[in-house]
Amino acid sequence: MKNDMNDYLIKAESRILAHLQTNRVSKTIEEASSYSIKAGGKRFRPYLLFAALESLGADLEKGVGAAAAVEMVHTYSLIHDDLPAMDDDDYRRGEPTNHKVYGEAAAILAGDTLLTESFHLITLDTRLNPDQKVEIIAQLSEKAGQNGMIGGQMLDIEAEGKNITFNELEDIHHYKTGQLIVLPIKIACIIAEASDSVMDPLLEFGDKLGILFQIRDDILDVEGNLETTGKETGSDARKNKMTYVRTYGLEGAKKELDKLTGEAETILNSLADEIDISHLYRVLQRFAVRDK
Ligand code: IPE
Ligand code: IPE
Ligand code: MG
Ligand code: MG
Ligand code: MG
Repeated sequence: MKNDMNDYLIKAESRILAHLQTNRVSKTIEEASSYSIKAGGKRFRPYLLFAALESLGADLEKGVGAAAAVEMVHTYSLIHDDLPAMDDDDYRRGEPTNHKVYGEAAAILAGDTLLTESFHLITLDTRLNPDQKVEIIAQLSEKAGQNGMIGGQMLDIEAEGKNITFNELEDIHHYKTGQLIVLPIKIACIIAEASDSVMDPLLEFGDKLGILFQIRDDILDVEGNLETTGKETGSDARKNKMTYVRTYGLEGAKKELDKLTGEAETILNSLADEIDISHLYRVLQRFAVRDK
């Protein structure tokens, strides 16, 4: 029977909101942290986690808590990314940014809540065994932490207005965005108990996917609009961000996007005899490939 991905995305969202409702101390924190989750978004990372589980032939129910945790960490990163001290943006997921509604202090704490409670939520997950819980919490902290998203966000800010090399630019994308995209694939491998010979290429696929996802985001910051992206475009140019578009032009960025898409496809094809790659192919087509 075919799994309905949408059902699983809804289950993951419900898991997050139910967890946030266990707040007994501050109504403001409950509201502010739920606000950015309820605003929606593409749910790319939970989708990727479920698609990877499907490709690996695992039970999607086991991924609901982990998908919820990954989306919480991602949403926290967006709330903080939008703060005046960082990208200073007013719209996110088609709504005013968290700090525009609740103020900076509550927005910082709402982000902190989503991060911290993501770990708590995993500890409470009855579908995971203790070893899996520890491994998943280790992955959440590693991929979001100093050698992951946070490290990349600092590189991104320090690079504003500077001339940087291709490798430095790729590093920014690899860390600030790529690590939280490798994360759901790694977690799916933990849940499905995938062998190293399957996991290693899948993680390499995730790395390409992460970088190309950010290049696409950089292109949309120039070519998209508030209605289609849910955020105010032109933000990168305003902040002198070092993006592929700024460094190599729109055409150069699109070429790089196509190149990485081809490389990601090649990796998937190499796994065709071992797993059902069709689900991960769908992810690439649906969320990452540029509009032709
Ligand atoms: C935005 O991520 C930040 C980037 C890493 C490009 P998404 O494009 O996945 O944002 P949502 O979750 O759909 O709002
Ligand atoms: C940031 O990239 C990605 C994060 C780690 C949050 P951007 O700053 O380009 O993301 P958007 O365009 O604000 O979503
Ligand atoms: Mg940013
Ligand atoms: Mg931003
Ligand atoms: Mg962007």
